[in-house]
Amino acid sequence: MAYNLLKGKKGIIFGALNDMSIAWKVAEKAHEEGAQFVLTNTPMALRLGDTDKLAEATGSLIVPADATSIPDLENVFTKTLEHFDGKIDFILHSIGMSPNVRKKIPYDSVSYENYLKTMDISAISFHKVIQTAKKFDAMNEWGSIVALSYVAAQRTLFEYNDMADAKAALESIARSFGYIYGREKHIRINTVSQSPTLTTAGSGVKGIGGLMDFTERMSPLGNATADECADYCLTLFSDLTRKVTMQNLFNDGGFSSMGMSARAMEMYNKSLDCRDCHDHPDNYRIDK
Ligand SMILES: NC(=O)c1ccc[n+]([C@@H]2O[C@H](COP(=O)([O-])OP(=O)(O)OC[C@H]3O[C@@H](n4cnc5c(N)ncnc54)[C@H](O)[C@@H]3O)[C@@H](O)[C@H]2O)c1
Repeated sequence: MAYNLLKGKKGIIFGALNDMSIAWKVAEKAHEEGAQFVLTNTPMALRLGDTDKLAEATGSLIVPADATSIPDLENVFTKTLEHFDGKIDFILHSIGMSPNVRKKIPYDSVSYENYLKTMDISAISFHKVIQTAKKFDAMNEWGSIVALSYVAAQRTLFEYNDMADAKAALESIARSFGYIYGREKHIRINTVSQSPTLTTAGSGVKGIGGLMDFTERMSPLGNATADECADYCLTLFSDLTRKVTMQNLFNDGGFSSMGMSARAMEMYNKSLDCRDCHDHPDNYRIDK
């Protein structure tokens, strides 16, 4: 159901690769809510992915860009401002990639060349996007910038590897730049920390199936889907959240506040040799 939440708003959406991408869902829903936007991704992603279909369905312009390249980003902002003949109201940064994760190199033996790429693509690109937007004075006052994060920024989750460090930096950039851009132009900057989600990037994390089962069991509301993440992002682009800035906002069904749940405990106890347990699991009451 559409509420016309983004009627008349214009933006740039980074990172829609295919119909599983979180950015794809954001684009579809932003279109339903009355927004217009430019879509951008790397030339390779545009060749291998389906972004052209999304552009056709939403009537959007595509501008290729590697988000680590300042000249590419300058081109995105130049073309966007020309295309709309004016400023924009929102930016979605939905970009992540770790060569160490991709090559399954463990955290305690990462290649530093890869590590620097992880940081540049997954975190510093956010700084570059915001700095370029500011340099071009591309945003209307009270605009909104959102990047996607993950709880591994705060807590260690095995196998998330150097992406955890990138997400911690990403969230810090939202705070540091949120102060400056907020003070000067009333632009708000937030990160949304999303549940594990089966997308192309998500599938690259080793053991994603087990992780999703664990977080589903741990979260009182269950894992948030990509669609639900998009719904949340739209509220942050809308005028309903004008004073929300410099926050990392969890869209994770409650996972980040949990220590242990009945459903996870049940699973854990099943895998124990209970004869050796001091506290037999039958002593626990499992509600669901
Ligand atoms: N899937 C999950 O479990 C999950 C959970 C929490 C947060 N996130 C975050 O959500 C965001 C979107 O990921 P997704 O899950 O939709 O996967 P996805 O693979 O669909 O999207 C990742 C995007 O990053 C783009 N990208 C990679 N390198 C780039 C570069 N140099 N310049 C520009 N774009 C580049 C890819 O082309 C792709 O479109 C990422 O920041 C990811 O870390 C994902």
